[in-house]
Amino acid sequence: MSKFPKGFLWGGATAANQYEGGYLEGGKGLNTSDVMTAGSHTVPRRITWKNEKTGETGYTGMGFGSDMTFPEGAVPAVLENTYYPSHVATDFYHHFKEDIAYMGEMGFKTFRLSMNWARIFPNGDDDQANEEGLKFYDEVFDECKKYGIEPLVTLSHYETPLQLLINYGGWKNRKLIGFFEKYAKTVFERYKGKVKYYLTFNEINIMDMAPYMGGGMMDNSDQAKAQGAHNQFVASALAVKAAHEIDPEIKVGQMLAYAPLYPYTCDPADQILQLEMSQHTLFYSDVQTGGFYPEYRLKEYERKGIVLDDTPEDYELIKNYSSDFLSFSCYGGHTLTTHKDVEGSGGNFFMGVKNPYMETNAWGWATDPACLRLACNTLYYRYRKPIWIVENGIGWSDVKEADGSVHDDYRIDYLRKNIKSMSDAINLDGVDLMGYTMWGCIDLVSAGTGEMKKRYGFVYVDMDDEGNGTLERSKKDSFEWYKKVIASDGEDLD
Ligand code: BG6
Repeated sequence: MSKFPKGFLWGGATAANQYEGGYLEGGKGLNTSDVMTAGSHTVPRRITWKNEKTGETGYTGMGFGSDMTFPEGAVPAVLENTYYPSHVATDFYHHFKEDIAYMGEMGFKTFRLSMNWARIFPNGDDDQANEEGLKFYDEVFDECKKYGIEPLVTLSHYETPLQLLINYGGWKNRKLIGFFEKYAKTVFERYKGKVKYYLTFNEINIMDMAPYMGGGMMDNSDQAKAQGAHNQFVASALAVKAAHEIDPEIKVGQMLAYAPLYPYTCDPADQILQLEMSQHTLFYSDVQTGGFYPEYRLKEYERKGIVLDDTPEDYELIKNYSSDFLSFSCYGGHTLTTHKDVEGSGGNFFMGVKNPYMETNAWGWATDPACLRLACNTLYYRYRKPIWIVENGIGWSDVKEADGSVHDDYRIDYLRKNIKSMSDAINLDGVDLMGYTMWGCIDLVSAGTGEMKKRYGFVYVDMDDEGNGTLERSKKDSFEWYKKVIASDGEDLD
């Protein structure tokens, strides 16, 4: 039997760039996500560009090891006759009342959404915030309140106002610290009393692999990524400071992409590889939640000749205003080896090999419920700050039957095992876990592939990979199941 603490925050998670749509409505500016094309499991998403003087257009890669260059004089731009999944997405902008009503019906205690930075500051460096954008989120939070749902707001989920990339080069520029601080303060002040929980940067460690998504940068160099991360750490610390000054009730968390790493063999070389790969991730939580720059990373900077543009005050801020809690995404573990003769698997943003003990979905993502118990233990006992699972779930090509039903027993099975795993972390290991928000609670666009058919939700949205569909919502079987789980406080998982 699973037991969850009183007040456990059950809910679901989304992100504006994949869900909100309304991409130019209400005075919103362009975001970096608005110039990203759709892809698939085998075709990478790309960034489109234009040279305004010559009229020349084209596209380039967006990280994950692919080339990210474009010609002199060109800038990322929206092109005609090109489909961009973020523009309509699954249209939360016009469906928020209906969607929040579904969440209320399931008994959500919390709803994780991201604010669209360019909806509030269309160019990122504007003097005044966009009142229409602020009003939109006022209405969203008021709607949540009707159902007793506590919003959990990510300030930047894989998006940066596009003008901050074009005019400043994105997060490698220290000026972005001030722009973000202003954005965060505006939001904290405006929604004082309405929003208690915030996250600064979604999966901050994505900077290492995809600096475009993580840092709004067209620069894949180690120097730029280190500086981009540093600037985000300082910006996060300033956000914590501002939040506490504006309203001591506000809690600002870190958001980390976390996957336990399994050495494929007992070869000590595989354990060393696991250690080094873990450091790539834990560096980000050591700084943002632990409040210190770990020596293993400083040694790496020394070896690579990376020199940060920093100040002594940066480190004081990082130490004094570390995050209030640590949240993370966790979908399954990754298996690593130094051996060359092992079948590779693809999968998420991390390279890994096929683990013979795990099943995978059509996109190569492993079903691995143990990941939650492992992640909770590692992250809680490293810092002893409350933790929160803000993403977990399974992408599947759900089929809507003629009568509107969707039979997603695979999702129920996945969630049942994962919820049991986090219950073990609480009841067997004593981890202080605040909540659980299942990823993509209402169907939305996949971040990795830009597809619609990689669905995660309890609610199906009629939309296809080319942007055709009525956007009509219908409940999947998992809807009633999750409702029962929440109503029983996680005890009834049948
Ligand atoms: C996380 C991201 O990495 O994984 C989400 O924070 C994303 O934005 C989720 O959607 C699932 O990944 P994908 O590629 O299946 O959408």
